[in-house]
Order: sequence, then structure tokens, then C-alpha cells
Amino acid sequence: MAGDLDRETMERAYARWAPIYDAVCGPVFEKGRRAAAQAARQVGGRILEVGVGTGLSFSDYDATTEITGIDLSEPMIARARERMASGSYPFVRDVRVMDAHDLEFSDATFDCVVAQFVITLVERPERVLDECARVLRPGGEIILVNHLYSERGVAAAIERWFSKHAHTFGLRPEFPFARLEAWSRDHGGIQVIERRRVAPLGVYTLVRFRKEAAAEISSARAAG
Ligand SMILES: C[S@@+](CC[C@H](N)C(=O)[O-])C[C@H]1O[C@@H](n2cnc3c(N)ncnc32)[C@H](O)[C@@H]1O
Repeated sequence: MAGDLDRETMERAYARWAPIYDAVCGPVFEKGRRAAAQAARQVGGRILEVGVGTGLSFSDYDATTEITGIDLSEPMIARARERMASGSYPFVRDVRVMDAHDLEFSDATFDCVVAQFVITLVERPERVLDECARVLRPGGEIILVNHLYSERGVAAAIERWFSKHAHTFGLRPEFPFARLEAWSRDHGGIQVIERRRVAPLGVYTLVRFRKEAAAEISSARAAG
């Protein structure tokens, strides 16, 4: 799968999306974005938004949180900075251009890492998930929301056809939940704690992972 959505393709695609993103994609992703931010607020504290885009999610947070956003696309981050400069989101601490494959943060910096409509787009999703897990404190959560690939039936056939044409738009629809589950199994110390469909019509899936605390890992090792 690596190489089908490389950095250059992604930067080109989102330079085109940036001026129209809020109007075109904002409403389409709104319910999924809200559900993820709501789950992140339950964790609270220092929240990293990976692929923050234009910062549409800022209005879904409040002063009980401290938001840091990163995105590969300079034009998308420029929009997020404009939003930040409005003064309406004092809890947004920083937004920066950064590649999610190489997060420039120390281990265990954040209480929660959120990626809304991002993980299916990146070149190496497992590498990005490794990075999210690394910068997360023990006991913290990774929260993803995305359209995940239907593994059976008519929807799967349509998505397979669409995927052949989608990459030039910076999209990768052929991404099953099983891939996320396999990552958490292989990673160790990360568990899927929730998987649920969200509106509209259940087309998006919200997935929550929890990073076990050190004590939980050592007692699991002792038991196993
Ligand atoms: C569909 S948009 C979602 C934006 C935002 N999360 C939202 O829900 O409105 C995907 C975002 O992921 C960003 N992105 C793609 N690959 C990335 C990477 N490797 N590192 C950081 N951001 C990336 C894109 O630039 C784009 O802003």
C-alpha cells in the first residue's frame, strides 16, 4: 500500500482543497468530527490533532483542553492559523506544519491524540499510528474517525471501483477496520476499547484505542 498516496500527491491535493475545504468538506465531515472531539473531551487535557486541516474542529473543544494541531499541508495550516488568530479559541496552543509519520514531540507528551479523516490517507498508516502511540501518555487514548472500507457486499464492490480513481484527489477508500485491529495487536500495550458507527447514516466509524499503563502491561505479562 505504501507509495500510493505519497507526500507530494497529498500536498498537491490539499493545496487545491484548502480554499474550498470548509465549504465543501466541512458539512460532510461535521458529525464525525464532533463525535471524535466529544470523545477526546472526555479524556481532556493536552490533545494533539493530527491532520488538523483548517482547524474546523476548534469550535468542538473548550477551555478544559489544550489543543495542538499538526498538518502536512502549509495552505491548510495557514487557514488554521487564521482561525486561531480570531481570538475565539484561546485553548488552541499551537498549529504547525508537520508530517504525522515523524512527530516532532517527545514521548508521552499528550493525554489524547485525535485524527479525524486522516488515517486512511497517509502513506504509511501503521507508522503514523506508532507515532501517535509514542507521543501518548500511558492511560491516554488515540481517537480516530473515518469512513472504513466495507469488507463485503455491494458497498465493498463500489468502493473497490472508486478506489481506482480516488488517489488523485488525496483519498484512499479501501481501508478496513481489520487493519487497525491488526496494528493494535502487533503494537502491544494498545487496545481497541470502542468501535462505533456515527452519523450521518453510520457511514463513519469512530475507533478508540487506549495505551495501557506500565503496571497493566507488566501484570498482563506475568499472567500470560
Ligand atoms: C480530510 S482532511 C481532514 C482535516 C480535518 N481533520 C477535518 O476533519 O476537517 C485530511 C488532512 O490530513 C492531512 N494530512 C495528510 N497526510 C498527512 C501527514 N502525513 N501528516 C500530517 N497531515 C496529513 C491533509 O493535509 C489534510 O489536511
